[in-house]
Amino acid sequence: MVKIPLRARIGRQMQPPPFLAGEDVFESGAQIYREQCYFCHGTPGHDSEYAKRMYPAPPQLWKKHGPRGVVGVSDDDPGFSYWIVANGIRLSGMPSFKGALSETEMWQVSLLLKNADKDLSDPVKAILNPPVR
Ligand code: HEC
Repeated sequence: MVKIPLRARIGRQMQPPPFLAGEDVFESGAQIYREQCYFCHGTPGHDSEYAKRMYPAPPQLWKKHGPRGVVGVSDDDPGFSYWIVANGIRLSGMPSFKGALSETEMWQVSLLLKNADKDLSDPVKAILNPPVR
């Protein structure tokens, strides 16, 4: 989990999302997540194998943690996750996605993670965990 000084800095620099969450946003976010994030951060019901061999270990963003059973980063503002996706976290495996993803894409994936504790639609779930053939 993100350390306190970094949390404070992000808190000061955080922006509000430029659009609202909704099914389209979640489907686009899930596509991006499946392409860029799942191998470190896992998918609903499936933890990343890779994460166990990284230090610091990438948090599993679909899993409950802590005494309150919070799912992933669903208790953080989407602007908080956006900052991390855009800037990365230094001295960790968390890359910066500025340049690799557009601002819209970074917001889509951040809004998806904000709603990781919700019952997402079947299409979104199928993008995150494609059916095994
Ligand atoms: C190569 C592995 C890797 C990839 C790919 C990756 N991350 Fe991460 N991510 C990490 C690690 C490691 C951390 C934890 C860093 C720390 O604890 O200092 C992290 C932390 C985070 C956090 C903060 C979690 C918290 O507990 O506050 C968020 C949000 C996040 N990543 C989102 C994403 C998103 C969205 C993507 C895809 C666009 C992504 N990451 C891709 C490794 C990765």
